[in-house]
Amino acid sequence: MVKKLIVVVALMAGMSAWALTDKQRAEVESRISAEGQVCLQGDNSCGSAMAAAGGEPKSGKQVYESSCQGCHGVGAGGAPKLGDKADWAERTKKGMDQVYANAINGFSNIGMMPAKGLCMSCSDEEVNAAVDYMVENSK
Ligand code: HEC
Repeated sequence: MVKKLIVVVALMAGMSAWALTDKQRAEVESRISAEGQVCLQGDNSCGSAMAAAGGEPKSGKQVYESSCQGCHGVGAGGAPKLGDKADWAERTKKGMDQVYANAINGFSNIGMMPAKGLCMSCSDEEVNAAVDYMVENSK
């Protein structure tokens, strides 16, 4: 009796593997593609989904492009622009520790720098890497 049951269960399991309807197959495929999605640089939603899923830490460039560029690319609201040597030199004078802290906690002197540039899924390290990326490219 028990043996028979095992055979039946095994058969059912085997069948369900190949007996997917087209609809089920489409559902499975859409789930797979959602999970294994290729994240394009600068794709906000995808980047934060990756971090939330515990993916690899993002590079400074990736964080910059997805979370900081909007303001720091154009100097919105007085944000020091990427490549603006004079502005960044002035800011890094006080020491990188304070510059990192300002990026993580946010601050407002001439404009509004939101905490972590609003990338709430970014770790402190990822925000710091983005700061490094901007500073390195503004020398
Ligand atoms: C909504 C616009 C906005 C976004 C998004 C933004 N910033 Fe800023 N950021 C600013 C502004 C404005 C300032 C200048 C604030 C001031 O001097 O009063 C600033 C200043 C800074 C500074 C200078 C700190 C200092 O000590 O002078 C750093 C570093 C910085 N941002 C890092 C980042 C990083 C890293 C990101 C992305 C993760 C980011 N920002 C995203 C607006 C933004």
